[in-house]
Amino acid sequence: MSIVFHEKSKVFHLSNGQVSYIIRIMENGQLENLYYGKSLKDREDFSYLHEESMRSQMSINSPEPSILSMHYTRQEYPSYGTGDYRSPAFSILQENGSRIVNYVYTAHDIFRGKKDLAPLPATYTESDEEASTLEITLHDQVTDTDLVLSYTIYEDYPVLTRNARFIHKGSEKIVLERALSASVEFLDMDYELMHLSGAWSRERYVKTQKLTTGIQAIQSLNGTCSGAEFNPFLALKRPHTTESQGEVYGFSFVYSGNFLAQAEVSTFDMTRISMGINPEDFAWELNQGESFQTPEVVMVYSDQGLNKMSQIYHRLYRTRLMRGTWRDQARPILLNNWEATYFDFDEEKILNIARKAREVGVELFVLDDGWFGARNDDYRGLGDWYVNLEKLPDGISGLSRKVEELGLKFGLWVELEMVNKDSDLYRAHPDWLIGVPDRFESHARHQHVLDFSRKEVVDHIYEMIAKVIRESSISYIKWDMNRYMTEPYSRNTEASQQGMVMHRYILGVYDLYTRLTTEFPEILFESCASGGARFDPGMLYFAPQTWTSDDTDANERTKIQYGTSMVYPLVSMGSHVSAVPNHQLHRTTSLATRANVAYFGTFGYELDLNLLEDREIKKVKKQIQFMKEYRELIQVDGDFYRLISPFEGNETAWMVVSQDKKNAVAGFYQCLNRVNGSWIRLKLQGLCEDSLYEISYDTELDTPIEPALAATYGLKIEKDTVKTYKAYGSELMYAGIPIDRNLLNNKSMDFSSLLFVIKQVSE
Ligand code: DGJ
Repeated sequence: MSIVFHEKSKVFHLSNGQVSYIIRIMENGQLENLYYGKSLKDREDFSYLHEESMRSQMSINSPEPSILSMHYTRQEYPSYGTGDYRSPAFSILQENGSRIVNYVYTAHDIFRGKKDLAPLPATYTESDEEASTLEITLHDQVTDTDLVLSYTIYEDYPVLTRNARFIHKGSEKIVLERALSASVEFLDMDYELMHLSGAWSRERYVKTQKLTTGIQAIQSLNGTCSGAEFNPFLALKRPHTTESQGEVYGFSFVYSGNFLAQAEVSTFDMTRISMGINPEDFAWELNQGESFQTPEVVMVYSDQGLNKMSQIYHRLYRTRLMRGTWRDQARPILLNNWEATYFDFDEEKILNIARKAREVGVELFVLDDGWFGARNDDYRGLGDWYVNLEKLPDGISGLSRKVEELGLKFGLWVELEMVNKDSDLYRAHPDWLIGVPDRFESHARHQHVLDFSRKEVVDHIYEMIAKVIRESSISYIKWDMNRYMTEPYSRNTEASQQGMVMHRYILGVYDLYTRLTTEFPEILFESCASGGARFDPGMLYFAPQTWTSDDTDANERTKIQYGTSMVYPLVSMGSHVSAVPNHQLHRTTSLATRANVAYFGTFGYELDLNLLEDREIKKVKKQIQFMKEYRELIQVDGDFYRLISPFEGNETAWMVVSQDKKNAVAGFYQCLNRVNGSWIRLKLQGLCEDSLYEISYDTELDTPIEPALAATYGLKIEKDTVKTYKAYGSELMYAGIPIDRNLLNNKSMDFSSLLFVIKQVSE
């Protein structure tokens, strides 16, 4: 058991040989954090780590002669108003208008395994041996409420998960105005705060800033999702921590709605990390007998740099957050018709695209937006989940069977949480919209948010879409969501409960996911929100892959996928080869580079292959063959290493290494071409130093232009383009793969790339 309680010193030590987390019950009954970091040898008493000294202007809320002041104490779950002037983890409004509470230790429980947080998503265990849990119960006498702080430590990973639960036993009504999931305190401020931020089509760029005194925070107030602006993740890294060495603490929030993640540095240089549901417009009423469960925070500690932190998140989230049939499986290679047709299609056009897809080896055809109601543009139709028979005379059932007869699986797009005012659904239920009566209802993409905080709305949508699925042959669903919430207000909810609406909305989304994944367990779900505005762990619990971004340009994708990989595994990242010039940026990149980037994700195509030339179709066939051979390594088995950051220069590189270190694939990408460039060395990671490897890469003309035109530019085309050589793992990691920029120059233009396949061979 990796959790011990030392009775005499009242110290809990959670440890697994990789990480230690030490909590003490203080004299005032509240909880103090004594240590979080690299594993410590256990001992009876760590209380010397408590720091306490008299300071002027100190507020002390224990009887004299105590000098214990909460402002200088590293607390586990700080409260408001009793001498700590930093941000609290929670705040409870009571009937007398007071927010003062005093939660003191009453009991604890240590057990093997981990409790389910359903209906909330959370990481889980498959056997009780995989983790141990500590639940500490605190009690506030005046309100008669329990607060249960829960900590799980995984046996094999430096991972701790945390959540809090309020159980109200008293007779007065209380209101939780703030109920974060975790608060973690660090001794000093010598850290950089790292987070992922962006906007539509440039999601999850890596941002790093030195911590400074005061509050630095990221958040979502989008209502419907975690958002493209900020991801529910932050990390504290030491200034000298790199991808491959140094300390970093990751905090990832398993939730898909409004969140707050902040670092607060006191004027005594202590750093407090807070994470949870955003308190803004949150007020959760608790009556006698009711309880509130916060979502989970997943904390990863690494003393081997950012790559190690990410690899731990990847493995944990792939195997103990994702669930269901697809959890351990490599993903089908798909073709999605969105950028091929947008709304302009009929059955014949779709079948034509599907036929060509089948010919090149694609396995799954996905019909995107535009198949239902009067949906010929984005002004109308959302909410009418029955097929548009003018476009598809045999319905989705007929089309799905025809696609299957071609030898492909069939997938379908939906956007279940939304409605256009021009729809039968809106005309029948105008009061089902989120919005305040007599106030303007802001619109976005001409659509409105259905009130998923109401069960009858979720029930209705479930019945409509389940009917389509039951009648058809559907193997995959892309669940889209294309707007943020405005005027958050539920029309049939009491005034005093309006602060519950946004969390209830997310619970409604989770409920619908639960119903659909339960009734259709074989279906592969991909979540999506205007590209990647809902790339969060909460979603991955229900849908094991997410559309990473609407930006399908290969060069932009190096940044987006690099940033996303900080937390999320490659198998969760929807990545497609699309047409050139690219629809978002109008940039032209080669077919090879587009695939070389998309391989490091779920891999698929998003274009009409009928429009490609024969020589391109030959390449596409080779790409699909390659992915079929390597997807198990890339998506399921391998560890991902970031090698060169696109946020720091002209190049990007990354690689995947199999668990047994026998196989690897590495991608190298340049942004702009250079004339008369120098050689560079690409240093690999994760290989076995003493093993001999064969490295092969294809230098085939990596250009989007015609061979004839290439000749006029003086670009050489060689017959045998595959180069191979052998080197030991130590050479590949410490001396590196020499890359001749001139070779890139002679063979390519801007945005060229190389893909290396590395296989262990015998001497
Ligand atoms: C936004 C998604 O990100 C796109 O991939 C596409 O499905 C459109 N919505 C369809 O409306």
